[in-house]
Amino acid sequence: MERIDEILSQLTTEEKVKLVVGVGLPGLFGNPHSRVAGAAGETHPIPRLGIPAFVLADGPAGLRINPTRENDENTYYTTAFPVEIMLASTWNRDLLEEVGKAMGEEVREYGVDVLLAPAMNIHRNPLCGRNFEYYSEDPVLSGEMASAFVKGVQSQGVGACIKHFVANNQETNRMVVDTIVSERALREIYLKGFEIAVKKARPWTVMSAYNKLNGKYCSQNEWLLKKVLREEWGFDGFVMSDWYAGDNPVEQLKAGNDMIMPGKAYQVNTERRDEIEEIMEALKEGKLSEEVLDECVRNILKVLVNAPSFKGYRYSNKPDLESHAEVAYKAGAEGVVLLENNGVLPFDENTHVAVFGTGQIETIKGGTGSGDTHPRYTISILEGIKERNMKFDEELASTYEEYIKKMRETEEYKPRTDSWGTAIKPKLPENFLPEKEIKKAAKKNDVAVVVISRISGEGYDRKPVKGDFYLSDDELELIKTVSKEFHDQGKKVVVLLNIGSPIEVASWRDLVDGILLVWQAGQEMGRIVADVLVGKINPSGKLPTTFPKDYSDVPSWTFPGEPKDNPQRVVYEEDIYVGYRYYDTFGVEPAYEFGYGLSYTKFEYKDLKIAIDGDILRVSYTITNTGNRAGKEVSQVYIKAPKGKIDKPFQELKAFHKTKLLNPGESEKIFLEIPLRDLASFDGKEWVVESGEYEVRVGASSRDIRLRDIFLVEGEKRFKP
Ligand code: BGC
Repeated sequence: MERIDEILSQLTTEEKVKLVVGVGLPGLFGNPHSRVAGAAGETHPIPRLGIPAFVLADGPAGLRINPTRENDENTYYTTAFPVEIMLASTWNRDLLEEVGKAMGEEVREYGVDVLLAPAMNIHRNPLCGRNFEYYSEDPVLSGEMASAFVKGVQSQGVGACIKHFVANNQETNRMVVDTIVSERALREIYLKGFEIAVKKARPWTVMSAYNKLNGKYCSQNEWLLKKVLREEWGFDGFVMSDWYAGDNPVEQLKAGNDMIMPGKAYQVNTERRDEIEEIMEALKEGKLSEEVLDECVRNILKVLVNAPSFKGYRYSNKPDLESHAEVAYKAGAEGVVLLENNGVLPFDENTHVAVFGTGQIETIKGGTGSGDTHPRYTISILEGIKERNMKFDEELASTYEEYIKKMRETEEYKPRTDSWGTAIKPKLPENFLPEKEIKKAAKKNDVAVVVISRISGEGYDRKPVKGDFYLSDDELELIKTVSKEFHDQGKKVVVLLNIGSPIEVASWRDLVDGILLVWQAGQEMGRIVADVLVGKINPSGKLPTTFPKDYSDVPSWTFPGEPKDNPQRVVYEEDIYVGYRYYDTFGVEPAYEFGYGLSYTKFEYKDLKIAIDGDILRVSYTITNTGNRAGKEVSQVYIKAPKGKIDKPFQELKAFHKTKLLNPGESEKIFLEIPLRDLASFDGKEWVVESGEYEVRVGASSRDIRLRDIFLVEGEKRFKP
């Protein structure tokens, strides 16, 4: 601190202002590229005091920088990990930490200081375009996953950034929309995950969100950034704005938004001025005090003196991509969720597979926007099947290859480049195969695999229409015809869902024999899929988010706000009843519930013991693999609170555990601790644990509760926020 105060005392006012405003979006609008081309932001250096330019880069599925640079023969590829929703499906903290470590090493070795990840907004609605970048509909799972990931990243001597703080749960009009939400829903649902991550993992930075929160931009919201984040939670890093967020840099600094990113907002919005000029003017006119500015600079420097750039770290530009590919594979392997299996999976090694769907070749590795990645390669599903020497219908595969090649040359289906430089491929019709060819394939092969793919991304939400939330007519026709022809031959059909967020499955799932949710697994996708199909990987992922039966069942019916054609305001009418909290409390049956996922083996739960030990609820139980394949099991502890003064959800997730790999017959004894404070509801002023009988529910999913017991809380307990 002394050193920082010393630096501070030597900085001129203008230099201080420069430290709180970025240099402008690097590489665009005439701005020079960052030292690390493709990085999303950079700070102003103050060379006379030895303060370097710090580099900030996205994002959750891997470090996003340009893979190549002008006049440079070297390459700067990074690892494409599974998208966050898939990472959360692993429910494995150690794995998240490992992914964080690997990503952190790439951040450091490519000369970046802060990784703009993890993103941790709640899945309020399945159509949010960035749900793939977010972990879960549940704040505990989200907060735990983020904490483990942040620890991993920061163990590498670089910073993480938890974003987007807060209630940025849609892409439609995200830069202006006013999110109206009760303080209770905020604290119990939308803030909770951030609170867990701040307290457990001490992230270097927080990114304030674009949207307004109850009337004020998050980046200009003092209650959010000072009272909640710093005073209540003890956050001691710095807050940066999302890119071009808000409308008033002076208000941002006053509210505790320490750094304004990326700077030069006037380059994208003619109504904005140069932030540096605006802040200098406010200082001169006495509208902003130098103390406020000093506080922001202090917050920033306190963190960045630990960053590689400040230490003059000589980065190699040679991160260990080989070993990180293994981490990406492992993470994906544990994130696959087996949704249906009537005995078709896994295939044995002689099974001859007919693969349908263009997604076998144009496999989606992740979403678009700032969460995109530029890996050395992406193994498509077909490539994975080939590489793993599975027996497959080569003629059918060539038909698909030729079809895709031909269609992509036509004007209608030519890939287009979006504003992020990503090639967007219009969806190809999936029903091009004549029935007789499908019949032929059904005769020739033992089983069919049909790939259904979806992509979404930053800047737009998905739609509750055919081809997006629902299957398109051509996809449905393909599934129907393939199922009919294969079933006629006494053969089975498996659907692979290569998606980043829920789609509708209830109306067609009975047509097929198995459904594997393989998400968007990053560069190792095809290998993971092949290994799951043949049972080299036993699926152990569970859903971090509910798959509703129909879009009309979704509780956040106000999404994406009013007026419909140009939403300015979105009222969170469902309040705390988000995800399973709604489906369970109001008796709405989902297609697949939160926490659901099958395995190729079976697990038995027994010996639940609970005890109150001071302020802690101790829970222990034993899980045994009673099937005949090795596997891992995710168990979840839900608590059902007594009916008291405050309305409460039917049950809430309070703890979870993933076993080690259990061999057939092997058991693991699990010990979990739940601070009693975590059972509290927010009554508008304080956190309250009401007195009464609580039920501990240990389940294989939120609706497959295997063990229960009760305990009594005598006398209400209250906690200040
Ligand atoms: C996104 C952030 C991202 C930033 C920098 C914004 O558009 O919302 O998630 O970190 O851009 O790329």
